[in-house]
Amino acid sequence: MKSPMSVAHYYETMEYGPALEADGEARAWLKKHGAVFGHFIGGEFVAPHAGKHFPTFEPANGKTLARIAKGSAADVDRAVTAARKAQPLWERLGGYGRARHLYALARMLQRHARLFAVLEAIDNGKPLRETRDIDIPLAARHFLHHAGWAQLQERELADQLPVGVIGQIIPWNFPLLMLAWKIAPALAVGNAVVLKPAEFTSLTALLFAELAAQTGLPPGVLNVVSGDGTTGAMLVDHPEIDKIAFTGSTEVGRLIRQATAGSGKSLTLELGGKSPFIVFEDADIDGAVEGVVDAIWFNQGQVCCAGSRLLLQESIAETFRKRLIRRMESLRVGPPLDKAIDMGAVIAPVQLERIRSLVETAVKEGAQKYQAATELPQEGYFFPPTLLWNVHPSSTVAIEEIFGPVLVAMTFRTPDEAVMLANNTRYGLAASVWSETIGLALDIAPKLIAGVVWINATNLFDASVGFGGYRESGFGREGGREGIYEYLKPKAWSMRKQRAKSSVMSVFHDNPGLELPPIDRTPKLFIGGKQVRPDGNYARAVLSAKGKHLGEVGEGNRKDIRNAVAAARSAEAWSKATAHNRAQVLYYVAENLSARSDEFAARIAAMTGATIAKAKAEVSASIARLFSYGAWADKYEGIVHTPPLRGVALAMHEPIGVVGVGCPDEAPLLALVSLVAPLIAMGNRVVAVPSESHPLAATDFYQVLETSDVPAGVVNIVTGRRDGLVKVLAEHDDVDALWVFGSKEASAAAEKLSTGNLKRTLVDHGFMMDWYDNLASEGPILLRHAVQVKNIWIPYGD
Ligand code: NAI
Repeated sequence: MKSPMSVAHYYETMEYGPALEADGEARAWLKKHGAVFGHFIGGEFVAPHAGKHFPTFEPANGKTLARIAKGSAADVDRAVTAARKAQPLWERLGGYGRARHLYALARMLQRHARLFAVLEAIDNGKPLRETRDIDIPLAARHFLHHAGWAQLQERELADQLPVGVIGQIIPWNFPLLMLAWKIAPALAVGNAVVLKPAEFTSLTALLFAELAAQTGLPPGVLNVVSGDGTTGAMLVDHPEIDKIAFTGSTEVGRLIRQATAGSGKSLTLELGGKSPFIVFEDADIDGAVEGVVDAIWFNQGQVCCAGSRLLLQESIAETFRKRLIRRMESLRVGPPLDKAIDMGAVIAPVQLERIRSLVETAVKEGAQKYQAATELPQEGYFFPPTLLWNVHPSSTVAIEEIFGPVLVAMTFRTPDEAVMLANNTRYGLAASVWSETIGLALDIAPKLIAGVVWINATNLFDASVGFGGYRESGFGREGGREGIYEYLKPKAWSMRKQRAKSSVMSVFHDNPGLELPPIDRTPKLFIGGKQVRPDGNYARAVLSAKGKHLGEVGEGNRKDIRNAVAAARSAEAWSKATAHNRAQVLYYVAENLSARSDEFAARIAAMTGATIAKAKAEVSASIARLFSYGAWADKYEGIVHTPPLRGVALAMHEPIGVVGVGCPDEAPLLALVSLVAPLIAMGNRVVAVPSESHPLAATDFYQVLETSDVPAGVVNIVTGRRDGLVKVLAEHDDVDALWVFGSKEASAAAEKLSTGNLKRTLVDHGFMMDWYDNLASEGPILLRHAVQVKNIWIPYGD
């Protein structure tokens, strides 16, 4: 036997000893600050107002690294004030000026790459190999890419304005990278930022802020207030914040949705996931095994889009299991600064405990456990790479996000079953599909409910490609053209005024027909392509502007909404119809409305008191709008991103699903058409609650729909008390998005009550739209909210 010290021994066994990265510079930086940090506000470190600090620990050994300021309301206020003051100047600096600053930040990160990489590894516990090769270069790439958006803003985004002051709250799993994802787009287009890093990992944000000031970033443009969730909540609640951008747990995302509801603050949420990793029998198995290593053991599995559910086609399951277990044998866990390890420490004891207990639960529920035989360090918070085999789709670990290095495996037989299992989750962040048959992979990708799909790859990210979720994984995108809009607001909406309370009264009758003059037609609800009586059998009288009785409509209730949602849900074929087909239907609706123009104009004039000329103008505008969306149906297309790899990412515009729509009282036909048409043009199915005061335009309109080949269930119309019905829609977990126009209260209720399944909401906060202004009320301004972007990554070559 050869001596263990000989070169030949290592050559044969391929064993390697520790290769520790030096940490002198990072420790010196901590020492320079006495290992005690204040907040970074207005271009300098400031002591916390209440003088409170908390310790931050080194996950690899549990030792205290530094003391971090705990942000109080006064600190948050100071930071927001600094940002508010800096923002207008920063905006006025113009795209080119800001581009130069962002470029300087990218270069600064590159210059100090090693310092950032080491500090991040120490503070977070993740391998230096990852911080050095992924976190830091990708963070720099975000600043460089977004310097480009600043440069092009005046040309490419001329119809948009910056949102203002942005509160950004980030998690601990990618501290610097999440900072970059958040602040690069925000700053690029002229916003100022108050960032709250996660309490476990504040250090690289503080280093970044300090070095950014040294590169000449104007004071107040970027402020960092450290602290825990209570500090985060103070930032969320601050009245001078225009938008909150959050990455973290779904639970906290929900709290923030509730806290911001009705405030007028915009919101993006990037939340958890339980992403499927699907391997078909014709996949390159060794490639897929390596993919699994990246999917679940990268960053100790503390990745929101970790491929944590392995779905294997039954025929290859056993082979795959054996090869994966063999691969696990060579994985090494160790201190983060050791360049020869695959996995570092998890963030904190609380996380370690959560992982342990979930694994225990899995075993109790019948899973087989395999763990890498790697030796774990004696101190610190380490957990071995773990595979749970034979996991039932309904078991706890198949449903809950573990956020640790634990993979759960299940099998499927057919592609359909794979899709069903993959989508059997409340989340929808990412998915990986492995198959050598491109036709199969590209057929599966659109069927997966996920914001990102990687084909024969996993965990690919780039600043030019949007990232973000479907369903309870949140809403909004970070990166790419789709992400930049999250930090902008339409110029055309900036002059809107609050709507005056509707002067038209509507009366509620529970005894239809007895006290009212006879009418020649009883408008009903329109559900599933049929005219139906309201469930409660109540009717609502519709009055003219002068109070004259014009007719009656059904008084829809909770049950009617439920039926309408069910009808919309089952009209799924519309979402899969070709854009050409949807365009034809929209043109046909326009044609049939046009044939009845005079009748509609008379009805609008009678209800609203508008002159016949004005009413005719509303009908003409509605017809033109339908034509526009017929046009847009096959033209509001996705784009092809070209990230720096051999391959492309297809940013597909997908329908959101079932969308509830609450309509305002003004322009009762035009507003209804303006809201419903973009949604159905993009393949959504709609449950619309028309104007409460002037609903007859909508009930006449369903007759047009009936004669225009609109498939049953694509548009459903439920008349009645709008705000009440909107609330039912908001609480309904089978509604995917909600558009509410018409009142401040309804907007607030829509946002507040939609947290159950985290609906995407578009509300007017009571601001009046000019429905005749094509720039403000037609086209991309609304289409952007009618789709969600799925990025399908397709690497190619060997
Ligand atoms: P968290 O969601 O509590 O924390 C994320 C950030 O939000 C931190 O900066 C925190 O201080 C802040 N925060 C907490 N409560 C807040 C509130 N009420 N208002 C405003 N800000 C608040 O996540 P945590 O506790 O760090 O991790 C818990 C679990 O969340 C993990 O086990 C994991 O499952 C999930 N998670 C998901 C992440 C993702 O990227 N999707 C990232 C981090 C955690």
